[in-house]
This record gives sequence, structure tokens and C-alpha cells, in this order.
Amino acid sequence: MSQRRILLGVTGGIAAYKSAELVRLLKKSGHEVRVVMTAGAEAFVTPMTFQALSGEPVRTGLLDPAAEAGMGHIELAKWADLVVVAPASADFMARFANGMADDLLTTICSATESPIALAPAMNQAMWKNHRTQRNLALLQADPQVTLWGPALGDQACGDTGPGRMLEALDIVDRVNAPAGSDLAGRRVVITAGPTREAIDPVRYITNHSSGKMGYALAEAARRAGAQVTLISGPVTLAAPDGVDLRMITTAAELLKASGAAVDEGCDIFIATAAVADYRPETCAEQKVKKSGEQISLSLVRNPDILATVAARPDAPFMVGFAAETSDIERYALDKLTRKRLAMIVANDVSRPEVGFNSDQNAVTVFWPGGQQSFGARSKVGLAVELVALIADRYRAVRAQ
Ligand code: CTP
Repeated sequence: MSQRRILLGVTGGIAAYKSAELVRLLKKSGHEVRVVMTAGAEAFVTPMTFQALSGEPVRTGLLDPAAEAGMGHIELAKWADLVVVAPASADFMARFANGMADDLLTTICSATESPIALAPAMNQAMWKNHRTQRNLALLQADPQVTLWGPALGDQACGDTGPGRMLEALDIVDRVNAPAGSDLAGRRVVITAGPTREAIDPVRYITNHSSGKMGYALAEAARRAGAQVTLISGPVTLAAPDGVDLRMITTAAELLKASGAAVDEGCDIFIATAAVADYRPETCAEQKVKKSGEQISLSLVRNPDILATVAARPDAPFMVGFAAETSDIERYALDKLTRKRLAMIVANDVSRPEVGFNSDQNAVTVFWPGGQQSFGARSKVGLAVELVALIADRYRAVRAQ
């Protein structure tokens, strides 16, 4: 990991208190940090806090004769090899998106040639407002700018929804993500684990999926700088740090949660969930009692979540998984085309030491015009390599 010169812009919002921790963590990672605050930010945190944590004087005003003599806005813009604005308020986004340069921070952003990352933070209604979304669209189309977040969740004002600033640790992960194969600023949705389809209040149909591959991919994608939503069926794994975990039980719930996550914004969709292909036609209201020697259960087909998301006009980059026992290449390529996927990861579950419930996996990845095999290795190690390959393919497809 390379040490960087980071200019941290802090704008006016309650999330500014998290930026103090951000400075501490960036310094701990070995980066040099200088802080510029807007007037709004000073209403929430004092410059002294940032000065103490960064070990550098904090700049607040554009017209500051003392500072201009030493380190003016042009020098600061040239000094930084990364500008991070956290929190980025709705007001800052509006001014910056429209090319304003009416305070020190927007002036530096206009003058720098380095990448600029914004971590928005605001009330959820302000985030959803069409003017904010219009400014967001301008920023998303700007090749110098990357958006980190916002996250969903409880807000200081009591609302719940999108608009929370990413946690300091998540921002540091994005800063530290290796250049080249990283997913910084990308939004990744991953499905994982089994689904459960109820027969009656006490029984259900499920499978042996442990969720380990999906959870390992979520962790690896987050470490590569992505904003990760993990939609998981019932498993016994701990939630990976910094990942937005949403639990579901049935295939129908998985479909709904996947649609909602893609609506919120998704660049890459990875389906590792072992979805029950069929569910009982009806779920008995009361426990089914023993009767004759045989009973039969009528099953109906479940929706295919991967194929449904892939069929959307705004479909993200789609990655499927296929568990096969024979003719791996033929079946995997068939699924790749049939489900309109960008990549498919096929694992040979006929081998006893890999696959379901095991800590190991061995896979071959196929995409239109290419393939790559990964011999047996830990799911955690494999996840890191798969994320790097997915990031490479994603970039290649976008560049076409
Ligand atoms: N998948 C899904 N929704 C389903 C079924 C599968 O999203 N209802 C996804 C899985 O998460 C996986 C891929 O589709 O990424 C697997 O495709 P599928 O055709 O179900 O593979 P197999 O289960 O191997 O299918 P088959 O039984 O036809 O071999």
C-alpha cells in the first residue's frame, strides 16, 4: 500500500464528527493528511480538533493572507495526490457539480488534477431530492470524481434511509485499496446462502449451502474498495465488517431484496445464493399431522433471481455461479448465454474436498471469449482472486 498525500475536505454536516476519526485512521495507515474546512463544518467541529489529529494547520478561508503566503489553494491543490471530501453536504455537491469556486475547498477541487472522492452525507429526503440527484448525475459522469456512499441506515435527525456517511474505516479501506484491480466507488450486490421454503409452520425445504463463498466475496469486494450489499439467506456466519447485510428467508424475499438493492444503485451483481428452485405450492397454516403411509408435496417453480435482474434494461454487470457435476464447460456456457451473464463461476461439486459447506473451493470462470481456472484453495483466498478478475472484466467491458 502506498502512502499518499491526502487533502481532506470537511463540509457542514453532523457527520463531520466522523471525519476526526477518519484523520486518525488515515494517519495510522501512514498517509499525510491536511484538512480544509468549510464555514459550515466549523459549526460542528473546531479546526483545533483536526489540527491536533493531523499535526498540520487547518485551512478554513480562501482569503487568509497569512496562509496564502505559505500554502495557498493552488499549492494545496498541487500537493494533494488524492482529495477526499467527507462529509460532502448537499450544498457542497451542488456547488462543486456546477463548477463553482466560491470558497477554499471548491477552489482546490477546481485547481487539482488529482482524483477527488466524495463521501456524501445528508438527510435521506435531501439525498432523494431531484436537484441533489441531478447534481449527483453530473458528478457521476465526471471522470475525476468518485462517489463513496452514502450508506443506508439510521440518521442523526431520526429518519432512516440513504444519506449516511460511510464509516471512517470504510473510507480508509477505499483509500488503501490497491490501484489497478480495485473496485473503489463501485456498488456491488451479492446474494449468498440458501433459501428456506416453508411447508408448514415448523418444516421447510432448503439445501446445504453455507454462505461461505458469498460472505468471503463480500469481504473481498469491500476490501477492494466497493460499497457492498450482501443479501443472505439463513446462515451461521458473522456479518462482514462494513458490509450492508440484509437477511432474507425465501426465494420470493430474495427477489424483492435484490430488486430493491439494484434500484438503489448497483454496478456489479454477484449471485452465489443457492436458491431453492421450487417451493411448496401452499404453506399449511397449521402443522401437517401424520396420516397415511405416503403423502405428496406439490412444488411450484421459484423465480430465477439472477435471470430477472439480468433482464432489466439497467442490468448491472452480472456474475453467476453454477454448481455442476459433469460437462462443466458446456453447462456453464449454456447458463452464461441463457441468463445473459457477463461471467459465470463454475464449480465441480462432484469433487469431495470442495464446494458446498467446505472451506475450500476450486472453480473455472467463463466469460464470452475467455476462461480461467483456479485450483483448490481456501474460499477466502479464492474470493480475493475472483474479485480481482471480476474487477478486470468489469473494466474491460465498460471500456468497450
Ligand atoms: N439463481 C438465482 N435464482 C434461482 C436459481 C439460481 O439467482 N432461482 C442463481 C444462483 O445464485 C447461481 C445461478 O443462478 O448464480 C445458478 O443457476 P442455476 O441455473 O440455478 O444453476 P444450477 O442450480 O446449477 O441449475 P441446474 O439445476 O439447472 O443445473
